[in-house]
Amino acid sequence: MSPVETANAALAHPQRFRVSGGARLVGEVRVTGAKNSVLKLMAAALLAPGTTSIGEVPEILDVAIMSELLRRLGCDVERDAAASTVTINVPEQLHHRADYDLVRRMRASIAVLGPLLARTGEADVALPGGDAIGSRPLDFHVAGLLKLGATVENEHGFIVAKAKQLTGATIWLDFPSVGATENLLMASVLADGRTEIDNAAREPEIVDLCTMLTLMGAEIEGAGSSTLVVHGVDRLQPVNHVTVSDRIVAGTWAMAATMTQGDVTVHNANAGHLEIALDKLVTAGATVDRTADGFRVIMDRRPTAVDAVTLPFPGFPTDLLPMALALNAVASGTAMVTENVYESRFSFVNELSRLGADIRTDGHHAIVRGRPQLSSAPVTTPDIRAGAGLVIAGLVADGETVVTKIHHIDRGYPAFDEQLRTLGADIVREDDDQPQFD
Ligand code: EPU
Repeated sequence: MSPVETANAALAHPQRFRVSGGARLVGEVRVTGAKNSVLKLMAAALLAPGTTSIGEVPEILDVAIMSELLRRLGCDVERDAAASTVTINVPEQLHHRADYDLVRRMRASIAVLGPLLARTGEADVALPGGDAIGSRPLDFHVAGLLKLGATVENEHGFIVAKAKQLTGATIWLDFPSVGATENLLMASVLADGRTEIDNAAREPEIVDLCTMLTLMGAEIEGAGSSTLVVHGVDRLQPVNHVTVSDRIVAGTWAMAATMTQGDVTVHNANAGHLEIALDKLVTAGATVDRTADGFRVIMDRRPTAVDAVTLPFPGFPTDLLPMALALNAVASGTAMVTENVYESRFSFVNELSRLGADIRTDGHHAIVRGRPQLSSAPVTTPDIRAGAGLVIAGLVADGETVVTKIHHIDRGYPAFDEQLRTLGADIVREDDDQPQFD
């Protein structure tokens, strides 16, 4: 079975988690490469004919979907699960169409737009549409490509971008969009002349992409700052590159340790990528110690409520917002949690409320009044991060919480249930025989 056939089988045979609350998470976990980096690194491989190898690749569904997308563009993609690598053999001639059946399942597919356009002079990429966390338009990607001299049309559900040769330009992003920064970087490295991207995203995943592109021969200044300057080159070469570790998975373990009053050491993590989130946990009462390859979070009492405001990096990550809500739901006191990146990230609050959380939302703000314990219930996962938040909330609920639609969680958390069991949680994965209505 191909990885995507396996993924289809997983969707046809839905699974759920049965989580029993009460355990204190204690032990050690290791984080692999970041989902939100590796998918872009795989897209970046398209920029250089030959064999690129990427290390610390997480065992998640989205990597299988990106592999299938690259195959349809003409690449050979081999996954070595034991070595956690993906090897991508990129031909001189690429196809240039990314179809809706893959893009709708993984919006990160849009990352092939920039590199395909730069390599082939045309990219036809299906529009992904909105999702559970918001409408998520692509206007910054399109405006940037127009500045680089491309024509961009919206045709029958596809973005069709064309340019015989892209030319360098100065691009101001209205918001430091991660995806737009990545697409414009990957388009501009082969453009003619100098490109400047202002108000660029500064996430560690952007720095990781810049590191790989530079190794490939690209000329980029300012990685990790809000101004990126690219001097276009004629050709790039394939490389071996190891993916930056997943700060959102690491942050999820840190929050889970705090909420369950546990003691968890996270290996292969970069505390420097989580400064604000870890500082919030210290405010909540946890002890956070940096270790040689990560950090350790120890908590010996009920957390104190902490406010959080999501912002682009280095702000508190929006992808940890569900965990911040879950933590405050069992904290002593009241907290205000503010979301500034997505319009609908609070939509999963209804599920958290089913577990007894006392949360009132008003626009961008949520007021969370902590309770000593949540109350188990069946809940449904709307997206990756909300799903992880619901599972962790189930750990601090009385009785048994059943979490359905866990394929969302499998998209971003490799072997989440296995790792939770290693830490002492009582969680079982089982087939879900109930009818699925969407
Ligand atoms: N936006 C626009 N126009 C655009 C691009 C973005 O209005 O052209 C808006 C979006 O609608 C959103 C905001 O800008 O409100 C930020 O979007 P951004 O482009 O930064 O996000 P992204 O690249 O689509 C990545 C991650 C997300 C993560 C965000 C923010 C990947 C595959 N996804 O999305 O991760 O939340 O950056 O950090 O890298 C997840 O992993 O669960 C996830 C959703």
